[in-house]
Amino acid sequence: MFTKAIVRKPAHTFANGITEAKLGKPDYKLALKQHDAYCEALEKCGLKLTVLDANPDFPDSCFVEDTAVVTKDFGVIARPGNKKRLGEEIEIKKVLEPLLPLYSINDLGTLDGGDVMQADNIFFIGLSNRTNLTGSRQLKETLEKYNYTVYVIPICNILHFKTGVNYLGENNLLVQEGICTMNELSAFNRILIDQNESYAANCLRVNDYVLVPKGFPKTKANVEKLGYKIIELELSEFQKMDGGLSCLSLRF
Ligand code: GLY
Repeated sequence: MFTKAIVRKPAHTFANGITEAKLGKPDYKLALKQHDAYCEALEKCGLKLTVLDANPDFPDSCFVEDTAVVTKDFGVIARPGNKKRLGEEIEIKKVLEPLLPLYSINDLGTLDGGDVMQADNIFFIGLSNRTNLTGSRQLKETLEKYNYTVYVIPICNILHFKTGVNYLGENNLLVQEGICTMNELSAFNRILIDQNESYAANCLRVNDYVLVPKGFPKTKANVEKLGYKIIELELSEFQKMDGGLSCLSLRF
């Protein structure tokens, strides 16, 4: 069970963030409203939130998940792979320091938290344009100290590993159609996300609920069929900036 989450409010510079989505400019006021609804949903799932102030120096900084990897027992401060985001991790370190023993990705390593997926006692680390081999090795070493099994997998056609693959629990895995075959995932009950709904591969299990982005009926029905209680959330303004449900929080 998760008990806590860290979120950061979107900054007024949000629209200057990194995106390849080609869905137009986000509406800042609407993004704030959607962010409020996201926070309410996490609270409904039983989490106590730490809400960080917006940081206009970093337009992408509401996507806090990329700045760290956290478990109940420890955290690893990431080192964002896009130079525009390098530095976001510094403040997150200050927030996490009193809460958990911390490690860091350093030197030539780069790693975005969005490339790291936990499935019970296994961690998957995606090698992407953001996460390099050095960063993945550093994280793997730390995770293995805590007896996790770790798979490092090259990814293609997606920004982050969790853009395309997400673990719901109970061996159920959402996988975007059309991404590279990953043999390491073959032991899971894989639910293929329709190509027209690829954004919805990033659903988020939080305790008794699965958060699902609004507007993806096939995915919603498939998650419901698995027996999960659902909270649907409008994420249109974050989708425009290549962000999804998991990117908006650190949960532990
Ligand atoms: N806009 C989110 C990212 O590119 O990291």
